[in-house]
Amino acid sequence: MSINLKKITLCFTLIFAMLSFVGCENINDGKRIVRISHGQSTTHPQHIGLEAFEQYIEERLPQYDIQIFPNELLGPSVKAIELVQTGAIDFVVSSTSNLETFNDIYQIFSMPYLFDSVEAYHKVMEDEEILAPIYDSTEESGFKAVTWFDAGTRNFYATTPINTPDDLKGKKIRVIASPTNIKMMEAFGAAATPMSFGEVYTAIQQGVIQGAENNELALTNNKHGEIVKYYTYNQHQMVPDMLVGNLKFLESLSDEEYKVFEDAAKLCTEVEIEAWQEGIEQAKKEASEEMGVEFIYPDVNLFKEKVLPLHKEILTENPKLEPIYNNIQNVNKEVKENEK
Ligand code: GCU
Repeated sequence: MSINLKKITLCFTLIFAMLSFVGCENINDGKRIVRISHGQSTTHPQHIGLEAFEQYIEERLPQYDIQIFPNELLGPSVKAIELVQTGAIDFVVSSTSNLETFNDIYQIFSMPYLFDSVEAYHKVMEDEEILAPIYDSTEESGFKAVTWFDAGTRNFYATTPINTPDDLKGKKIRVIASPTNIKMMEAFGAAATPMSFGEVYTAIQQGVIQGAENNELALTNNKHGEIVKYYTYNQHQMVPDMLVGNLKFLESLSDEEYKVFEDAAKLCTEVEIEAWQEGIEQAKKEASEEMGVEFIYPDVNLFKEKVLPLHKEILTENPKLEPIYNNIQNVNKEVKENEK
């Protein structure tokens, strides 16, 4: 084990030990500490959104001390979800793909080419009727979603150019560990390699995988653009992130406190979405001008053809998705008609 790896492992062990022994002690200076974990850097739009969450709550409820832990400091997403489940921490930002194993209703967002446009995607995500059952779907696992974050459009990036799906053949491409993502990657013709986000940089560097798929911020905020020079706009998914909270903690809040947390959650999404567009523009500029990443604009239909049959397959396997899927298709249509 390298010295760095040893240090990181030691650091994790200490943090986990702290959380399991001292972490149950959630009070400091008379304030209830509320811990939030996420996997992005402190300049990422989600961190900026969470800072607004923190400020909004602390100004109104001084009895709470909101603490944000970025950069997977409290562990990769799936580990951090487990910490939320046990109540060792209170909130985590997680991709909906990682939530699939807790309730397969979350499969809906991993369906490739589900949304026809960013506008339709945002419209669906702001539709309480569609989203409420999804937010509450993990209550049996001890947590629920309180709001969503935009995580952009996912595209391929690799060490060699991906112009058509043929270029994916024989390549190992990292996916978020979810059954639907693995299926999708296989339909594209690549070898799906699930691993946590934090492992991707080293895996590419060491040649374990030849690429991954994500929004543009992965190139800059996560520095993948240092080692991957081709980013292809094939636009296969818009997978949101969810801010999920420990159920017991949420239920322990008084009505007045709950309202403050609820309003803070809405606000942090607004702030994040506003920061998102600017963040993406900056990331594209930095990746192309400073990191030498080439952006490729392929024929998207070639990629779509490969994976669209999955819609029927997934709906047959998981029929409870059908009403949600139909609602989303209606929103897709509405948005298209309004454009005319
Ligand atoms: C995006 C997303 C994260 C997710 C990551 C990944 O960055 O915002 O929540 O974990 O992709 O690919 O794992």
